[in-house]
Amino acid sequence: MIITIDGPAGSGKSTVAKLLAERLKVRFLDTGAMYRAIALAVLRAAIDESNHEEVARISKTVQIRFDGQKLILNGEDVTSEIRSPDVTAVSSIIASNPQVRNRLVALQREIGEQGSMVTEGRDQGTVVFPDAEHKFFVTANLEARARRRQRELAQKGVQQPVSSVMEQLRQRDERDETRAYAPMKPAEHATIVDTSELSIGEVVEILVRRITGES
Ligand code: DC
Repeated sequence: MIITIDGPAGSGKSTVAKLLAERLKVRFLDTGAMYRAIALAVLRAAIDESNHEEVARISKTVQIRFDGQKLILNGEDVTSEIRSPDVTAVSSIIASNPQVRNRLVALQREIGEQGSMVTEGRDQGTVVFPDAEHKFFVTANLEARARRRQRELAQKGVQQPVSSVMEQLRQRDERDETRAYAPMKPAEHATIVDTSELSIGEVVEILVRRITGES
């Protein structure tokens, strides 16, 4: 069984997807981490992130795999490094590159063939697993998402005004939603869940009830 959870940054979808996978005792796939790994490789190679050919070339040579929840890039554990603000910004730029997407989509489908999982990203229900048994689009209003992201950053010791977090999210949403190739949008028949006023626990319950057919 494949369950897809798509949606924008700060919607709570990663936490929800992880908890849902634990609850259903299936694997969890964080596809954003894969785009982030390519972004890190691009940053390390010091090439222009908007140069499609160069980025495509790098993306073909890197090796990406998961070891549990750890992301391994060319044999190195980069799980923490891919969460840096620089990687975050570059990942949303290289994500518009069709060749990068083709490579990662193929990898995601290979992982999906190995058994049931909850997979989260931007295009899981629309492009990667259009035949998934259950599809969700988890979202929240911009202010709620910015406040959550601000709290996460503060926990890491990074203080940023909510207005600047909001502006970064807005730019990333715009890039993710307007790219020509696999833009972020709810899949057909996806259940849309607005988490602005809900706790993580409440969201997980809504998803579980949908999947088990209780609502
Ligand atoms: O979910 P995240 O913040 O870790 O994702 C990082 C970037 O990767 C995000 O800006 C958009 C891109 N992404 C994507 O285009 N498609 C996916 N399936 C997952 C992430």
